[in-house]
Amino acid sequence: MNTQLEMQQKLEALQSKASVRILAMESSCDETAAAIIENGRKIVSSVIFSQVDTHALYGGVVPEIASRAHVDACDRVIDQALKEAGMALSDVDALAVTYGPGLVGALLTGVNCMKGLSYTSRLPLIPVHHIEGHVSANWLSHPDLEPPFICLVVSGGHSHIIRVNDYADYTLLGQTVDDAAGEAFDKAARVLGLNYPGGPLLSKLALEGNDTYLTLPRPHPDGRYDFSFSGLKTAFLNACHKMTQKGEELPRADLAASFEKAVVDTLCEKAILALRDSGLDTLCIAGGVSANRRLRDQLTRLSRKQGFRMCMPELWLCTDNAAMIGSAAYYRMRKGELAALELNAVPSLPLCR
Ligand code: KG4
Ligand code: ZN
Repeated sequence: MNTQLEMQQKLEALQSKASVRILAMESSCDETAAAIIENGRKIVSSVIFSQVDTHALYGGVVPEIASRAHVDACDRVIDQALKEAGMALSDVDALAVTYGPGLVGALLTGVNCMKGLSYTSRLPLIPVHHIEGHVSANWLSHPDLEPPFICLVVSGGHSHIIRVNDYADYTLLGQTVDDAAGEAFDKAARVLGLNYPGGPLLSKLALEGNDTYLTLPRPHPDGRYDFSFSGLKTAFLNACHKMTQKGEELPRADLAASFEKAVVDTLCEKAILALRDSGLDTLCIAGGVSANRRLRDQLTRLSRKQGFRMCMPELWLCTDNAAMIGSAAYYRMRKGELAALELNAVPSLPLCR
């Protein structure tokens, strides 16, 4: 039988199956990860191999090194995920892989690995958008969460406010017009002498700082729900450089706290504006920056005061992992989405197609 037709029939059969287990892979940046997810909500196993220590030597992700490290790790993380689940490949119903956005070489490694596995195991392969994966981390951490809701997605490469209309159905409300929030954190951290990835280190340093030390601009781009972090970042870098030129020692903790406050205030303001305008009662956050303590605490306080439901993934599910990809894949499977054998990596894949 034609391979594509066979996969199509298998995927259709899964749509009425009571228990569907998906083996997912994520390799869009500097984490090689595999996970097995049941019915989009239950994590059976999850393995993450982080390359952070390797890239920290260079102060940021080196794409060529990332691709090679993914090649080395992808078989291992899949074997480990199966082992931790106590399963064989024959116990799995479908495969899933991130095919964009991300680094092209890194994505290609995962895509080719899973296409090969799909062909030899005769398991259907479901293509997943990385940002949709981040949003789906909330399905895993909040078993009773249902659409619709507003989601603030803040990662190293993206800052979006989206309306999650239904499973695998989004409307983009706003986005950054320049730098992503995580990127701004990483650049600010670098000037404070912190290594990659700077976001969590800056946040830790900020704990001991005075957040009113430096007043930073809160830019308001034209779009009602859009962000801009480039002006804020430049003002921060200039303030630091001026102090250095005058031979002053940088009050690093105070600077970190002031920067973090400016970014978090902006994110909260826009996310709540979108929530209020939508008339919905649930706000979710997702992506690496959603692990930020100040952001989580500030939104939790606001939700209590203003009476909306606030959902956030557990900390380990905020940054890149394959569990979120397996969750997103389940809902794509229910819509009958299947990868063709020509599936390719798409480095700048848009979320709303
Ligand atoms: O979602 P993610 O793991 O990868 C991308 O898809 O980009 O996000 C990584 C980003 C990095 O910029 C990192 O500095 C930032 O998330 N990040 C944080 C925190 N943890 C990770 N930023 C601020 N505070 C944190 N605690
Ligand atoms: Zn990510």
